Amino acid sequence: MTGALLTAERLDKTYGPTPALSGASLTIRAGEVVAVMGPSGSGKSTLLHCLAGIVRPDAGTITYDGRELTALSDGARSALRRTDFGFVFQFGQLVPELTCVENVALPLRLAGERRRSAEARAAEWLARLEVDDVAGKRPGEISGGQGQRVAVARSLVTAPRVLFADEPTGALDSLNGEKVMGLLTDAARDTGAAVVLVTHEARVAAYSDREIVVRDGRVRDTAVVA
Ligand SMILES: Nc1ncnc2c1ncn2[C@@H]1O[C@H](COP(=O)(O)OP(=O)(O)OP(=O)(O)O)[C@@H](O)[C@H]1O
Ligand SMILES: [Mg+2]
Repeated sequence: MTGALLTAERLDKTYGPTPALSGASLTIRAGEVVAVMGPSGSGKSTLLHCLAGIVRPDAGTITYDGRELTALSDGARSALRRTDFGFVFQFGQLVPELTCVENVALPLRLAGERRRSAEARAAEWLARLEVDDVAGKRPGEISGGQGQRVAVARSLVTAPRVLFADEPTGALDSLNGEKVMGLLTDAARDTGAAVVLVTHEARVAAYSDREIVVRDGRVRDTAVVA
């Protein structure tokens, strides 16, 4: 394991009168899988969105790979998100009009890759997530668990250095959830991607190298998972 890849220092973020983050600090090392736990409303999603450059904190700094993310222009942050970060959310992230293989190929197509090679790579990722059988179907024609696997394939197809996942198995039953988590963490470990994973479930957190707890907008404690 190498040094810090992504560091947040004393982040503050309020939504109107509501504090979401109050001095949150955190370091993610290259290739590590970190589970972010904590009660509902404690600031987990806000922390993830700040780390990913989707939400700008009111105060504090975020440094990614030696660059201060919080000092970049919106355009530069978007470009960095496309090349270096992957995302999986709880649900609803696939484009309904596209087939599964087209969904997975989409980030490559947006980066300018030709259709044939993009879809070939997408098909490999679908096979790796064990959903190659739904390649030609649209998201409305597959199960929730299959949809999440397709979303995981799409998040990893660009070989991101950091994968952000916000309750990626929250809408699945526990058996499917564990299967998706196992595939997600194996794939991330194979490609060397760091994973920042928000979850409510201790069983999901067991797939991580390290667990952190967010309370009242602050990272309260950290523990290494045995
Ligand atoms: N877009 C928003 N507008 C207004 N308030 C928000 C917004 N997003 C979050 N909040 C508030 O900020 C606080 C932290 O929210 P956040 O979504 O980060 O919590 P969370 O830990 O992810 O919760 P959950 O486990 O329920 O997903 C909460 O009080 C929430 O109501
Ligand atoms: Mg949340």
